[in-house]
Amino acid sequence: MTQRAKNPLRDERDKRLPRIAGPCGLVIFGVTGDLSRKKLMPAIYDLANRGLLPPGFSLVGFARRDWADQDFGQVVYEAVKQHARTPFREAVWDRLSEGFRFVQGSFDDDEAFDTLAATVKELDELRGTSGNHAFYLSIPPGAFPVVTKQLARSGLANPTSADEWRRVVIEKPFGHDLTSARQLNKVVNAVFPEESVFRIDHYLGKETVQNLLALRFANQLFEPIWNANYVDHVQITMAEDIGLGGRAGYYDGIGAARDVIQNHLLQLLALTAMEEPGSFRPHALRTEKIKVLEATKPVEPYGETTARGQYEGGWQGGQKVPGLLQEGGFAKDSSTETYAAITLEVNTRRWAGVPFYLRTGKRLGRRVTEIAVVFKRAPHLPFDDTSTEELGQNALVVRVQPDEGVTLRFGSKVPGNTMEVRDVSMDFSYGHAFTEASPEAYERLILDVLLGEPSLFPVNKEVELSWEILDPVLRHWASNGKPDSYPAGTWGPDSADKMLARDGRHWRRP
Ligand code: BG6
Repeated sequence: MTQRAKNPLRDERDKRLPRIAGPCGLVIFGVTGDLSRKKLMPAIYDLANRGLLPPGFSLVGFARRDWADQDFGQVVYEAVKQHARTPFREAVWDRLSEGFRFVQGSFDDDEAFDTLAATVKELDELRGTSGNHAFYLSIPPGAFPVVTKQLARSGLANPTSADEWRRVVIEKPFGHDLTSARQLNKVVNAVFPEESVFRIDHYLGKETVQNLLALRFANQLFEPIWNANYVDHVQITMAEDIGLGGRAGYYDGIGAARDVIQNHLLQLLALTAMEEPGSFRPHALRTEKIKVLEATKPVEPYGETTARGQYEGGWQGGQKVPGLLQEGGFAKDSSTETYAAITLEVNTRRWAGVPFYLRTGKRLGRRVTEIAVVFKRAPHLPFDDTSTEELGQNALVVRVQPDEGVTLRFGSKVPGNTMEVRDVSMDFSYGHAFTEASPEAYERLILDVLLGEPSLFPVNKEVELSWEILDPVLRHWASNGKPDSYPAGTWGPDSADKMLARDGRHWRRP
C-alpha cells in the first residue's frame, strides 16, 4: 500500500484543533450545588456539542436526593438549557444523556459507594468507558477525607490495569491556611498520587489569562521592559459588582482574601512575574511559577500595606442593595471581609523594588478583572504645556474580563498649536480581532482533566506557597479588629486609597 504523502498544511491545522478526549466517564459529587448546575453540567454539554467528548462518555451524579437516572437527567437538562454557551441540539443531547446515571447515597454510606463502583464497571462494559474515570469533588473540603477514603475502599480510586486511569478533581478552598492546606493535601495524596490530582483554579482556564503567556513570550516588544528598570508597579484587580446573598454558608468566616487572593490573584501574579519557561510542558511551567511564588512576600507593616473592608448598603446599577450584615445567613457581628487589598514584593533580580498591589472586592463599582503593568515616567518631560495630570504613566493593561483584550496607554500630542501631550489608548479586543468565541474556563479545564493534561492545574506546592504568602496578613487582620466599611457600588474602603497614597500612587479606575 502506498503511504499518503503528509500534507504539512493539514498537520498544522490538526495541531490547532482541540484534542478529543479518549474513552472515559466523569463522576460528580455535589451535583445539587450551584457550581454543578451553573458551570459543570453546561460545560459538559458544550464539550459534547463541540465534538470533544468520546461517543460513550458517561456522567454519573452522586448525592443524597432520592432521584432516578431520569430525574438527574432532568436536572442536567435544565442546567444546560439555562447556562450552556452553545446552542441546544437535540441529537447531541440525546446521545449525551444516554450516558447519565445517578447513585443515591451519603458520603459515609459504604453500600452507596459499592453501588457507584458497580455502576462505573457497568458503564465500562455498556458504553466503553474503558476503566477511565475522573471524580469531581464539588463538595466542601471537610468532606474530602471521607469521600477519598470511600473511593479507595470501594476500589474506585485504583485503575485495574496500566492502560486505565483514575483522576480526582478538587475545587477550592484548598484549606484556610498553610497548616490546613498541608493536611488536605496529605489526605488527598494518601489516595491519589499527585499526578492524578487536578486542582481547579478556574482563572487559569480563562483565555485571557493564558494570553498573558502569549503576550509576554511570543513577542519581542514587551519582554525587554518587563522588569524593575522600567516598571513602576503592578496592579492586579478582581472587582465584582455582585453581593453575597445566598452564599453565607460558604463565605462567612472565609472572606475575600482566602476566597480569591490565595488562588486566582496569586496565580495571575505568578504568570505576570515568572521567568520564561523552557517550554509550556507542565513541569517547566510549574517550576517557574513555584520559583516566583517562593520569592513573593507581603510587605510590612501590614497596618499600612494592606486594607480590608465590608460592604454596607448602597446603590448599584440604579438599585438599592443591602449591606453584608443585612444579607441572610451572615452573623450580625461578622468580621468577614468582602474587600481585600495587599502589597507584595517579588524578591528577584527582575522585580526587586516593584510593588505588586492586589485587590478584590464584592459590590464594587463594576465587574472587572485586569492586570495593569504601570511603567515609570519618562526621566525628563520637555513639554511646557503638559501637566502630569494630563499625562499619566504608560500602562499595559491585560483585561481578563469583561471586554477581554489588551490596552496600551501612552502619551500623544493634542492637535493644535501648543505642545500639549495627553494620555491615549491603543486597544486590542478579542471580540474584534477573532471570530471564534472563547470557551468557558470550565470547558477547557474539564477537557484537560479528561485528556490528562495538567498544565493549567496548580500543584500542592503552589497551593502551600500561596498560603505562606497570605498567612501573615490573615494573622494580622485576625488580631486587629474588624474590617472598615464601604458603601456598595464604590471602589472599596478609604483605607485602600490611603494604602497606595502612602506610596505616592493611586488605584486605577478600571
Ligand atoms: C470564585 C469565587 O472562585 O470566583 C467567587 O469563589 C467569585 O466568590 C468567582 O464570585 C468569580 O469568578 P468569575 O469567573 O466570575 O470572575
